Amino acid sequence: GVSTTVLGIETSCDETGIGIVRDGELLADVTATSMDEYARYGGIIPEIASRAHLQQMVPTLKAALEKAGVGLGDLDAIAVTAGPGLIGSLTVGVSAAKSLALALGIPLYGVNHIIGHLAVDQLASGPFPESFIGLVVSGGHSSILHVRDIAGDVTELGGTLDDAAGEAFDKVGRLLGLPYPGGPHIDRLSRTGNRDAIRFPRGLEGGKNKARHRYDFSFSGLKTAVARYIEGLEERGEEVNVPDIAAGFTEAITDTLTDKALRACEDKGCDTLVVGGGFSANSRLRELAAQRGAERGINVRIPALRYCTDNGAMIAALGYSVAVSGRAPSALDITVDTNMPL
Ligand code: KG4
Ligand code: ZN
Repeated sequence: GVSTTVLGIETSCDETGIGIVRDGELLADVTATSMDEYARYGGIIPEIASRAHLQQMVPTLKAALEKAGVGLGDLDAIAVTAGPGLIGSLTVGVSAAKSLALALGIPLYGVNHIIGHLAVDQLASGPFPESFIGLVVSGGHSSILHVRDIAGDVTELGGTLDDAAGEAFDKVGRLLGLPYPGGPHIDRLSRTGNRDAIRFPRGLEGGKNKARHRYDFSFSGLKTAVARYIEGLEERGEEVNVPDIAAGFTEAITDTLTDKALRACEDKGCDTLVVGGGFSANSRLRELAAQRGAERGINVRIPALRYCTDNGAMIAALGYSVAVSGRAPSALDITVDTNMPL
């Protein structure tokens, strides 16, 4: 048969990612990041990220082509993250993608970053079932999705009403005096803490909002509870046990995420949960999802760590699915959408 090679470009945030997928197989995935620049600011600076993408785009593209052993002439389509994300960052990727599609005379597919976080799982674990639940958790999003076709039939069942899971981790990291981004540090510290020592509140667990927010999350109250707890210790002159706080906080978030995602699987009659996004690197989330999934007879798929954070392979994987689905390509005048809906 005819072979299809898709190059994917990801620049929604601070990672410049280029992935190349041929017939569902990953040939190359190269990422450059400007994250090292943000520790001293305590967060991403959009202008620095945009400039870094501009600097890194062509070298990253060249490295990926070289690694895959393909030339520009071997490409059949270009896929690019069109949103959601930072406007300047997205614009660099979309401009590069349009230029390539125009120069090579091949189709362009502008795709959704959040769906890409799920699509990447096909590269390691093979085709998706007919219908599954996706849990996408990162610094920017926490959503439960019902996926009937990764190439274009995805509905959002619920999401966060305030902070995303990774964002809550980064904010609590700041409270605990940890470097930015705090997520991986809290993960590491929580492994040595007692997760039952402090019980922090689970958001939207019950009460009058129970039915309406069946698949929604709220993590800002939890963050406030951690802040109050630390203040209380300091007022009483008691020692702050950072590992126990990290473990109790991690438990509150991962308990809610896994419980609501698996509930969605049961409600929708899906036997598979796919987890993706930067926060799915969290070791307790991976452990709890696997354990609870096994208890309830649900197959839990989580990509390898390096495919959880932003990368080009996820966009190439999604672009490949869209290209072979026969859907119409994007026009060459597409813009970016910082709040792109699914
Ligand atoms: O998907 P991603 O790379 O970028 C966004 O699209 O947001 O996710 C980055 C987020 C950050 O908030 C980071 O702190 C969090 O994922 N993160 C973690 C871990 N590794 C990354 N949070 C908790 N535990 C981890 N091991
Ligand atoms: Zn992401």
